[in-house]
Amino acid sequence: MLGTPSRAVIANAMIDPDLGRFRLTRAEPHRYAFKTPSLRNGALTAPYMHNGVYRTLEAVVDFYNRGGGAGIGIQLDHQTLPPDPLRLTATEQRDLVAFMRALTDTTGTQRR
Ligand code: HEM
Repeated sequence: MLGTPSRAVIANAMIDPDLGRFRLTRAEPHRYAFKTPSLRNGALTAPYMHNGVYRTLEAVVDFYNRGGGAGIGIQLDHQTLPPDPLRLTATEQRDLVAFMRALTDTTGTQRR
């Protein structure tokens, strides 16, 4: 569980209210838990997260860089990510986005 927020603003961040897998299992660690999606062709599948809160891959990387939901001030008991910031440099963040863009399938599209 990442602590995906309801809105893409940092100030007064709140958890998206969808209980996710908890609705099926009623197991506390599954509260707000969602399936980890494939990143293949992710550059083509905006917006991101189960609720579409982030419009760009840059915004997703910023979220992770801040330590996920706990890192932006949301009280969470079972966040899978460490809550501390990753401290990625601007270049590292750009490189991560470039890597994800490189996962775009070009088979059959003759894209150059
Ligand atoms: C810096 C490293 C990471 C990057 C760049 C990254 C990238 C992404 C992206 C782009 C998405 C959105 C995909 C979509 O909506 O189509 C996503 C979602 C997700 N990722 Fe990561 N990820 C990272 C680390 C992790 C880690 C460490 C975990 C598990 C502990 C994780 C678990 C998930 C989950 C569960 C979702 C879905 C969240 C939701 O729907 O609310 N990711 N990730």
